[in-house]
Amino acid sequence: MVLKPGLEGVPVTNSGICEINGTEGRLSYRGYPISELAQKSSFLETAFLLIWGELPTENELEKFEKDVQMHRRVSFRIRDMLKCFPESGHPMDALQASAASLGLFYSRRAIDDPKYIYDAVVRLIAKIPTMVAAFEQIRKGDDPIQPQDDLPYSSNFLYMLTEREPNPLAARVFDRCLILHAEHSLNASTFSARVTASTLTDPYAVVASAVGTLAGPLHGGANEDVIAMLEEIGRPDEVSSFLNDAIAKKRKIMGFGHREYRVKDPRATILQAFAEELFSEFGKDEMYEVAKALEEEAISKLGPKGIFPNVDFYSGLVYRKLGIPRDLFTPVFAISRVAGWLAHWREQLGANRIFRPSQIYEGAKMRNWKPLESR
Ligand code: CMC
Repeated sequence: MVLKPGLEGVPVTNSGICEINGTEGRLSYRGYPISELAQKSSFLETAFLLIWGELPTENELEKFEKDVQMHRRVSFRIRDMLKCFPESGHPMDALQASAASLGLFYSRRAIDDPKYIYDAVVRLIAKIPTMVAAFEQIRKGDDPIQPQDDLPYSSNFLYMLTEREPNPLAARVFDRCLILHAEHSLNASTFSARVTASTLTDPYAVVASAVGTLAGPLHGGANEDVIAMLEEIGRPDEVSSFLNDAIAKKRKIMGFGHREYRVKDPRATILQAFAEELFSEFGKDEMYEVAKALEEEAISKLGPKGIFPNVDFYSGLVYRKLGIPRDLFTPVFAISRVAGWLAHWREQLGANRIFRPSQIYEGAKMRNWKPLESR
């Protein structure tokens, strides 16, 4: 048996959801290039495409949007549960717990029933933003803001965070960010979702397990750490000494590197353009100059090893300009990625075999138990 740490290069499933070309920097969902979707689609349309395999017809999209809108509210019991969480706790932990709690409200015994599947998809896509925004309000000492029915999906989330209707450009950029983050093949959280799905548990447990996996700094948590790193660097002329020191100490540059890409992540290029669009409309962010200087110098030093900016490098700058608090960057990633997780949940159920890999045992050989006094 040959061990492949991190399962690098080991296929564990067939999939028709997302294709990555890591040498040419191309990404598509169900065959549609990400750049085209980010330009022309909406998040809910893209979620439908990912989960059901085809772009929706006008009627299908209208119904899906309406169903999601109808299910945005969460039970008072979930709001009360969120009130019991410590306000110093990380919002990803609150989200993981609240996503799992949905399983208490909706039956878990019908995962082969198309209606159950549709309703679970709608509920998860509808309620996750509400739960993220509710925890944000509660930890500030306010009551959660109820969803506003006449607002589209992305505008409604920004509204629930601030109680103000967002600027249309901000809402559009946010919706496009959700499209960009919606799916990325078998990353750690999606693999986690598929492993959980393979046990035939309910979709709320599938999503909760994926949320927990996304939270780590090597995965979705990196977007938060990028901003902390840019703040630590402080000024463009400090980039060289920071980078030399980081490389000497083998410290990772957050927002750089990817198992799949050997070039700049196509999503990073699109997000950088979104950041520039926001800066020209709402004013510059001094951290952007630090980011650009870091990108240029890091590429010259790490590019030869195939290390380039990934999706997390510019997303934090975009979210910062949209007024989203730093520790909500990863929950926002989860709001979007739930579409990909649910697409993989369905695909896994379509050809399921429980995941049960093997190991190479390196522990002690058989030995005899010793009583306490002779250890
Ligand atoms: N900065 C400096 N060196 C790096 C970086 C980086 N960001 N990423 C990889 N390397 C080096 C690493 O030190 C190692 O060097 P050596 O061979 O000399 O020991 C080599 O590249 C291979 O690194 P690895 O960690 O074994 O590669 P991986 O494919 O296991 O890891 C990664 C991929 C994304 C975890 C890694 O690049 C990383 O930790 N990046 C920083 C965190 C980050 O930005 N994560 C977001 C990933 S993209 C979005 C998402 O998945 O959510």
